[in-house]
Order: sequence, then C-alpha cells, then structure tokens
Amino acid sequence: MLVNAKEMLDKARAGKYAVGQFNINNLEWTKAVLLTAQELNSPVILGVSEGAGKYMTGFETVSAMVAAMDKSLGITVPVALHLDHGTYEGCYKCIKAGFTSIMFDGSHFAIDENIAKTTELVKVAHGLGLSIEAEVGSIGGEEDGVIGRGECADPDECKMIADLGVDFLAAGIGNIHGKYPENWEGLSFETLAAVNEKVGELPLVLHGGTGIPADMIKKAISLGVAKINVNTECQLSFADATRKYVEAGKDLQGKGFDPRKLLAPGFEAIKATVKEKMELFGSIGKA
Ligand code: 13P
Repeated sequence: MLVNAKEMLDKARAGKYAVGQFNINNLEWTKAVLLTAQELNSPVILGVSEGAGKYMTGFETVSAMVAAMDKSLGITVPVALHLDHGTYEGCYKCIKAGFTSIMFDGSHFAIDENIAKTTELVKVAHGLGLSIEAEVGSIGGEEDGVIGRGECADPDECKMIADLGVDFLAAGIGNIHGKYPENWEGLSFETLAAVNEKVGELPLVLHGGTGIPADMIKKAISLGVAKINVNTECQLSFADATRKYVEAGKDLQGKGFDPRKLLAPGFEAIKATVKEKMELFGSIGKA
C-alpha cells in the first residue's frame, strides 16, 4: 500500500524502532524489498537516488513500476516511494511523477539558501500529501557520483530546519555512504544527542546504514533515529551471490543462463539482507 512516510516514521520514533529505507535499482531490487516487507509485516521505504532514477529511464518509469508492482503483488504493508538526496529540480520531477515522499538535500548550500528552498518544498510537498526529509551537515563518502566530505550537523541549524515543518531530518553525525574505512571513528553520539534535544519528537534519519555495528544502530535508535538508509549492503550481497553462481559455472549448465535463473541468487541475497536489517531495526510486525 503506497503511502507517504510521515505516519510510519512518527510511529517508529514513538515506538523506539526504525524503518529501513532500501535503495532500489531495478525490478529485482524492488520486488525483493516489497516481498520481504510483506512477509515480515514491516513498513518499508523504497529509496531512489537521482542516478538510479536515470538508470531506470526516469522517475516516471520508477513510479509506474512501483505502483503496479505494489498492486499486483497485493502488498498491504505501508510502502513509501522516496527520492533520496534530491536536488531542487529532482524534487519537482518526483512530485510530478507520483512519488509519495521526497528528500531535499540542501546541505551543500549556505544555511539561508537551504532554509529558503526547504521552506518552499515543504509547502509544495505537504499541499500534495507527500512527506519531506531535509538534511543538515553532510553525509561523507560517495553515492552515485555525489561526494560528501562528511561533517557533523550544527544542532542549532537542525532546529531551524526542523521548525520549517519537515517530516524527518537527516543530520550528519560522522556517518558515510559506502563501506566504512578501517580508521572510521564511529558515530558522534554527542552530536546526535544534542540534535535530538533540539528537535523534540521529530524522527531523525541515519544515512550510510551499511556496515554500522549493531550496538551503534541500537544506540542511535534510542536517541531518536527512526529511519535508516541502506544501499551498498544490498549491492554487495547481490554481487557476491551472483559471482558465486557464475564461478560455480551454473550459468553454463542447462538453461542456467536464463536471466530468471542467473539473477535468482542475487535476488534471494537482497531479501536476506533486508530481513537481517529489519530484525536489527525492530520494524518486523509493525505494519
Ligand atoms: P549506504 O550505501 O552506506 O548503505 O548508504 C545508503 C544511504 O544513506 C542512502 O541515502
């Protein structure tokens, strides 16, 4: 059931668990995430970066595919279709294409410009029933060619953006996209606690969910994180399972080259990763 992400995240924040945002790349990804959420009776957010949107030939294709798949699979758990790290223009494209939720990432603008653009987009999104996420302080690492240095958010700036009426807020706390380097210093719980203190009951978002140890995830949830984004980890498990299939020569046996067979181990691997994350985040049975 396609919905915006506000109610599921308000519930998660109040119930001290988090809803996973899993980024999608194609039909297999979408089907794997939707089926796992339904099987585990968990709410879920499908994340679409601008790069992935382009890869799938545009946001309209993505929106039509997700809506049709949600219907034909008989999905009854709450599902939000959310733009991940949207530009100003990207937000308008997704609103037009029928997304139920957007993220405006104005973190690289000066705070005044971030505020001006976020204010406008909150008004437009809410007028049409979409939920909206904003960002303060950047998430480090690289995602789809967008490179962030990764700086911790200023809690006062978080308060300013929260007061604009955004539905959930991503605050940089030392988290980065992709694999964490050996010398990573861990999440800054000092920053997270200060942000949480300033924004009241607003659900907070933790980007860069791949590779964050379970104890840090649990602590982040206890400090107001209600949405956790996972992208790289599904890509790694898909690639690993596909490599094993090919290395075992299974594509050369019988009709093993049939894409429905070739992509099956990767599809199952994504499902397993999504399940593992939902267990850790505590969202199972919360639909
Ligand atoms: P990872 O790729 O590190 O899991 O991060 C995903 C993310 O934050 C998407 O916005």
